[in-house]
Amino acid sequence: MSQTQELAGRVALVTGATSGIGRAVAISLAGAGARVAVNYRDAKDGRQRADEVVAEIVGAGGQAVPVLGDVSREDEVGQMFAEVRSQLGELDILVNNAGIEQPAPIQDMTLAQWQAVIDVNLTGQFLCARAAARAYLARWPEPPPKGASAGKILFISSVHEVIPWAFQANYAASKGGVSLLMRSLAQELAPRKIRVNSIAPGAIRTPINHAAWGTSQAMAELLKLIPYDRIGEPEDIGRAAVWLASDASDYVTGATLFVDGGMTLYPEFRGAG
Ligand code: BGC
Repeated sequence: MSQTQELAGRVALVTGATSGIGRAVAISLAGAGARVAVNYRDAKDGRQRADEVVAEIVGAGGQAVPVLGDVSREDEVGQMFAEVRSQLGELDILVNNAGIEQPAPIQDMTLAQWQAVIDVNLTGQFLCARAAARAYLARWPEPPPKGASAGKILFISSVHEVIPWAFQANYAASKGGVSLLMRSLAQELAPRKIRVNSIAPGAIRTPINHAAWGTSQAMAELLKLIPYDRIGEPEDIGRAAVWLASDASDYVTGATLFVDGGMTLYPEFRGAG
């Protein structure tokens, strides 16, 4: 539990919070005092994993509830936001985290693979951001006093919003889209004091990229891409999320914070090229 409790009294929704980065962000926000809605998509096995995240938060003295919803479905997003409001109260922080990968060579990539990734990673982030913006705008017809925002929207993007990714064209396209979705919303909503930012994680030790770090050989290959010479841990993203979700970052909007150990720093050039 964080000592400063910089998110005390705040309500946060983290999408895709049953594993990986979403799980760590939910736990970090709760550790900083927020009441957290832990979103899961799958009513069967997802519910159990969401319950485990909630139990971990509650066991550490925090507050959390599980909330069902597929972010790519407009009706489910509406129900999810209503559920968060009735369970926890007015939303202050949305963390748009849910994301998937479906790699394929372009010549074999099916429309279904393209669509599935765009639906979750881009359309899902749009639907949730829109729902959060609606809630914040309704709650704050007049902006709050200086030093505090009328709500935060935090996108979890990827280094692949700028690094092209062979065999993952659908994923890279979705994250490239997130970059300008985020910045456009930041520009549009700044006058209403709603802050909109992204975190762009590099390689983080989570299930989505297990193949990239699961063996010592894979890890050695991966580390060639990371000047800081270690894989990221989900907690690295959790800490960055707490800062961007708190009033400590009140003047930050439209920013992408790369949390990547230098993966975007052209690592091939670290020995002078
Ligand atoms: C992907 C991971 C990958 C990382 C760095 C992330 O957005 O989800 O699979 O390891 O980017 O390439």
